[in-house]
Amino acid sequence: MAKDLNFSCNECGAAFRKWSGQCDACQAWNSITESKALSSGPKGKSLGALRGKPIPLTDLETQEKEPPRTQAGVGELDRVLGGGLVKASALLVGGDPGIGKSTLLLQAAARFARNGLKVIYISGEESNAQVQMRARRLGLEQSPVLLASETNLRDILTTLEAEKPDLAIIDSIQTMWADNVDSAPGSVSQVRSSAHELTTFAKRNGMAVVMVGHVTKEGAIAGPRVVEHMVDTVLYFEGERGHQFRILRSVKNRFGPADEIGIFEMTGKGLSEVKNPSALFLSERGAPAPGSVVFAGIEGSRPVLCEIQALVAPSPHSQPRRSVVGWDGGRLAMILAVLESRCGVPFTGLDVYLNVAGGLRISEPGADLAVAAALVSAREDAALPAEAVVFGEISLSGALRPVVQTENRLKEAQKLGFTTAILPQQAKQPSVEGLSQRHATDLAGFVEEVFGAR
Ligand code: TYD
Ligand code: MG
Repeated sequence: MAKDLNFSCNECGAAFRKWSGQCDACQAWNSITESKALSSGPKGKSLGALRGKPIPLTDLETQEKEPPRTQAGVGELDRVLGGGLVKASALLVGGDPGIGKSTLLLQAAARFARNGLKVIYISGEESNAQVQMRARRLGLEQSPVLLASETNLRDILTTLEAEKPDLAIIDSIQTMWADNVDSAPGSVSQVRSSAHELTTFAKRNGMAVVMVGHVTKEGAIAGPRVVEHMVDTVLYFEGERGHQFRILRSVKNRFGPADEIGIFEMTGKGLSEVKNPSALFLSERGAPAPGSVVFAGIEGSRPVLCEIQALVAPSPHSQPRRSVVGWDGGRLAMILAVLESRCGVPFTGLDVYLNVAGGLRISEPGADLAVAAALVSAREDAALPAEAVVFGEISLSGALRPVVQTENRLKEAQKLGFTTAILPQQAKQPSVEGLSQRHATDLAGFVEEVFGAR
């Protein structure tokens, strides 16, 4: 760190000459703290001029076996974990308050305990009685999970050291209080140092630790980003209020694929896994209507069909509304621009609403063509052929690009009773029995093919 820059931001690491309430670099509040000089080596000499000790180098090959995993026996959870829980690892589970994190983790704790792990569940938010009531509601009161209600991290670590569990669940990291850090629980430095203590403790003692993290309004886990870097696996538990299903998504996983999802349904007796998500997402779909298109998507490693709905209406405002739920607003603007400039389908003076039904959030560009189809269908008031699925990426030139896992998408569509797929022309088309394919090379061709000459 340069001379005199004695203050640094806990969120982004920017260095400053003096303290201030807000970080100029990342705009975070109350994140700047004085950094103490860490080095104790001789001052004033360049590092290269002094002799250190050589570090041992090795080659890439290892004799170590794959890390041992314990499965929960819940397919949706095990898949997101990359095949099971890894020994000596640290996980962070983020999500909005009330979404069901504590429920999920209590159920997972019971499963792992039943499969032979010693599990300790520590709640900093609820009393033992509250957790016990939840366990009774979930029918898990007989599970061999050990429970404590505590926020003092020093006492927690001492207990974990004595008990030597295989898995410790900390609900939540924002309630933990490390007494060697003088700031309030939930503050950036408390969260950071608690997570650091727990992670290093877990690695040293061969224990897996799962930390619950609350999510801020902006959608990031409250507290410093560094917590996400510290742990091996970051999972987000998502869902829309008013919808009963929940998605557990891995956004980072050192022991498995990221972007894998597990789908659960919140019932009166806790979360139950959804083995056939496409059927769930399409269950509320009525007769084919203008503006409604079924998108054959891929979430993680498996195909998921869902309905994309668009509504286009004359706008009373000088600046028409563009409203999106479940998709990226910037991407919608791009599709509208391509439709306008490459296909002659203008949306000037029209309000546009786009919704992914069921509360799913789609992030893959493969949804472009389905979105475009929904928009044109709504604008022209013409429904797509019944029992058709659509997918494909759109480039700025209006060309259609092939997407990954075409065959899986087609098979899933066929399995759910769809008879037609509309997709980009590409070199190799796997043919799927019972499913006819219609191809287009560009968006203008697609609009003409589906909605006729305009
Ligand atoms: P909770 O796990 O406490 O959420 P979090 O830890 O993320 O804050 O769950 C909160 C909601 O879940 C609560 O509003 C009630 C609902 N719920 C059910 O619908 N069924 C159940 O069996 C349980 C335990 C909770
Ligand atoms: Mg909770």
